[in-house]
Amino acid sequence: MGRIIRDFKAWVGHGVDLVRILKFNFRNPHSYTKFRMICSFKEKAGCHVLIEAGTYHGVMADRCSAIFDKVYTIELDEGLARRASCYLRDKRNVSVICGDALKILSGILEKDEVRDVLVYLDGHFSGEGTACGELAEPAVEELNVLSKHKSKVHAIVVDDFRSFGTEAGFPSKSSLLKSAEDAFGGGSFEITVHLDQPLIVKKEV
Ligand SMILES: C[S@@+](CC[C@H](N)C(=O)[O-])C[C@H]1O[C@@H](n2cnc3c(N)ncnc32)[C@H](O)[C@@H]1O
Repeated sequence: MGRIIRDFKAWVGHGVDLVRILKFNFRNPHSYTKFRMICSFKEKAGCHVLIEAGTYHGVMADRCSAIFDKVYTIELDEGLARRASCYLRDKRNVSVICGDALKILSGILEKDEVRDVLVYLDGHFSGEGTACGELAEPAVEELNVLSKHKSKVHAIVVDDFRSFGTEAGFPSKSSLLKSAEDAFGGGSFEITVHLDQPLIVKKEV
């Protein structure tokens, strides 16, 4: 029943987003809109594995388990990670990993079976009840880590672009984009910003 209510609210939110796009009045996308964006980038970049930084309740990991062969989701807060593991216990292709995504991303990407990866960077302090690591928003440093695994990473989506430079402790928008260009600029990746999400996608060869 919980999932039915969740999905109903998500579809209403997605409908609101579509109307806002038609009116050129777009704001922070609702969760189902973000899921549809991930679906579209997955197809564009030919990804089979998702690595999500920031699990929270596990809603995105749950949805993405239906479209990816394997989902790794990393949550820093022990309580949230435990509850998400419980919520996702029926999803055989989802692994919930408790820890700091900045420290865990490399280890996942070094596994032989992990390739054709879409990375969703959404692991940041999000207010009361969520974790704050050494960095409130580690996406700049995470891009640097991901640049060491370019052969496996096909696409990177960074969520909540509007919060960079405005939320306490978040790096500026310019430093995020500079980090994306320093790490992935120069030819083989396309870098754009799409509906509140910087997007780095490997070009087709
Ligand atoms: C915006 S929520 C994630 C929402 C989730 N991706 C979704 O779409 O359903 C951000 C989460 O990141 C977690 N977090 C904060 N810093 C983190 C870090 N360094 N590594 C992993 N998770 C982190 C927070 O505890 C919070 O649960």
